[in-house]
Amino acid sequence: MSRVPYIAGNWKMHLTKRKASSLARDVAAHQGENATRKVAVFPTFLHLDYVRRNLKGSNVILGAQNCYGKKEGAFTGEISPYMLRDMGVKVVMIGHSERRHVFGETDAMMVEKVKITLRAKLDVMLCVGETLDEREAGKTFAVLARQMRALKVVKPTQIDRITVAYEPVWAIGTGKTATPEMAQEAHAECRRLVGDILGADAAATIPVLYGGSVKAGNAAELLSQPDVDGALVGGASLSINDFGPIIDAAKA
Ligand code: PGA
Repeated sequence: MSRVPYIAGNWKMHLTKRKASSLARDVAAHQGENATRKVAVFPTFLHLDYVRRNLKGSNVILGAQNCYGKKEGAFTGEISPYMLRDMGVKVVMIGHSERRHVFGETDAMMVEKVKITLRAKLDVMLCVGETLDEREAGKTFAVLARQMRALKVVKPTQIDRITVAYEPVWAIGTGKTATPEMAQEAHAECRRLVGDILGADAAATIPVLYGGSVKAGNAAELLSQPDVDGALVGGASLSINDFGPIIDAAKA
């Protein structure tokens, strides 16, 4: 079973409505209706509607960087996946390391978010990854196993709506990329864990993306690893000059 290469741009807390709109147009023009690869962008909540309008006519997927784990209610400042769907969002990033480490979000919260996002009929991009201390203590696989448990709530009919992103925390925004061998080792383990939790078909079909200082210069080598199905790109997704070549590195 083949997995379509998938390149995602995580715009984090960057850009203005004008710049987000123009970057969306650039990404849309670059991707067009290309069906040999999937491309998604994750703007801030505020820019979703501008980006959605500027992606029109392309098959670029609109994503959100986070959500709250409830449908609605007295949760000041939070956003429900049902609201995201209403805004045209198709996929929600859950468990990005900045959510876990800057905002103290827990594995229990990830479970709630995965559940409600799938119930809202949106796709999930579950981010996992170890810190430098955890890697040096030999705990990488244990951390992945703990974080991947959020997939336990996925039903068999929902498997095609799941993507996993492996992002070693020490490689995010630091310029330090995992070597292709390190990425492959962790990706193979993520795939094995998917198999344990959701079965062999899920392990064969769920894409596992790599994230952490992906650039035009290292994308092709990372993507050539057998279990690396794509990239989740932060800094280098903020201009089409950087992001375009990464998209082009995605070959079926
Ligand atoms: P980076 O971020 O590419 O800037 O390292 C990746 C991410 O956090 O998704």
